[in-house]
Amino acid sequence: MLRTYLMLWAVCILWTSTNQQSLSSKPDTQLTTPELIQKYGYPAETHEVLTTDGYFLTMHRIPPRRGANRPVVLLVNGLLSSSADWVVTGPNNGLAYILSDAGYDVWLGNTRGNVYSKRHLRLSPRDKQFWNYSWHEIGVYDVPSMVDHALNVSRQRSLYYIGHSMGGTDFYVYASTYPAYNSKIRLMVGLAPASYNYYNSNPFFRISSFSKVGAEADKLYNSEIFTKDWAPPILIQTFCRDMGLVQELCSAGLLLLAGTNSTQTNKKSLPVILSHFPAGASLKCWVHYGQQLRSGKFRQYDHGRQLNLKLYGTAEPPEYNTTVITAPVASYVSDGDDIIKAKDVDKLHRTLGNSVGVFRVPLPTFNHLDFLWGVDVKSLVYDSVIDLMAKF
Ligand SMILES: *[C@@H]1O[C@H](CO)[C@@H](O)[C@H](O)[C@H]1NC(C)=O
Ligand SMILES: *[C@@H]1O[C@H](CO)[C@@H](O)[C@H](O)[C@H]1NC(C)=O
Ligand SMILES: *[C@@H]1O[C@H](CO)[C@@H](O)[C@H](O)[C@H]1NC(C)=O
Ligand SMILES: *[C@@H]1O[C@H](CO)[C@@H](O)[C@H](O)[C@H]1NC(C)=O
Repeated sequence: MLRTYLMLWAVCILWTSTNQQSLSSKPDTQLTTPELIQKYGYPAETHEVLTTDGYFLTMHRIPPRRGANRPVVLLVNGLLSSSADWVVTGPNNGLAYILSDAGYDVWLGNTRGNVYSKRHLRLSPRDKQFWNYSWHEIGVYDVPSMVDHALNVSRQRSLYYIGHSMGGTDFYVYASTYPAYNSKIRLMVGLAPASYNYYNSNPFFRISSFSKVGAEADKLYNSEIFTKDWAPPILIQTFCRDMGLVQELCSAGLLLLAGTNSTQTNKKSLPVILSHFPAGASLKCWVHYGQQLRSGKFRQYDHGRQLNLKLYGTAEPPEYNTTVITAPVASYVSDGDDIIKAKDVDKLHRTLGNSVGVFRVPLPTFNHLDFLWGVDVKSLVYDSVIDLMAKF
């Protein structure tokens, strides 16, 4: 088994390194986000942004095709996800394309630690310290850097922010930490956004609630989970392709993360999806969600009593003061999502300074990852998002 695996891997490397074909004849499974964008006839740019704590983040952009001063929208990925996830299903279903067609200047973020953002001024991803962050640091450092860069380049004063799952958490951390920055946000749209996490019933997350706190745990959790190379692309192409024998297994793997019985799984795009997802993250992001699950609160990382006292001056971690979030916030949730439950999202919205509403997807089986890749996500969610954006 191991030998077969290694052989296939070697063949794959050989094939990709000797092949000079143009983008259009390369399979989507082997293209990066900007390559995919260009392959489908849209202009693509790549930007690098340095955060104040030393991480280099890659941003991708579909600049407006004509006319300056187009409204800017920033899409922020969820846990284990990357900019690719907004384009992998192609121009008819990918939110990045749909927004570009609707006249927006589209920016795709990549939060620290994912496959596009693994560089740091002093640290290497091989250093444990590189992985010493959760979504708290993403909200405090990555989001302001990405927002300011997009606004600066696009010469705008404010933008639309769309975050999937952890991309929502990142926003709430950002907007509650820097109340003055709320004026830079025309509208925040959370697609199954995470904050309170008490009703999360997904097994992958329920396990994280057993995580430990304290100095030893802090060190232990400074590591990476689910890198992009979790399975070689050739294996994915072979086994997860449309009609492939083991395709159901590939779907099952995703379902473990995504939730149950979706009728929305995009089988045709599955090989492409799985060649870009999961894109890696720090274990601490996941552990931090486990802490929210356990405490029922939306608050900073719990290092254990002793370290909390030292770092925060209180035995318990401080809660995020979401009442200072004055940017308009709209959330989309689904009953079929076992990770983000309406009750948790409603609870957050009751605290917000300017809640636009919590909208339910009108299909009960629609799950957490369907917000990115569901076959009918455009008619069920994105069309409504674009109508809403036009009002702000
Ligand atoms: C904005 O862009 C200009 C020119 O591209 C650059 O010199 C400046 O440092 C940028 N400012 C910020 C805050 O990113
Ligand atoms: C992780 O970073 C924090 C600062 O954000 C620091 O206080 C702590 O010592 C670091 N933890 C480890 C285990 O390196
Ligand atoms: C998923 O489908 C199976 C079989 O159809 C069913 O037994 C189960 O109750 C369903 N789960 C949910 C959460 O709908
Ligand atoms: C949250 O911020 C508001 C407005 O600044 C303030 O009145 C309130 O006391 C804060 N709440 C907490 C728990 O810090």
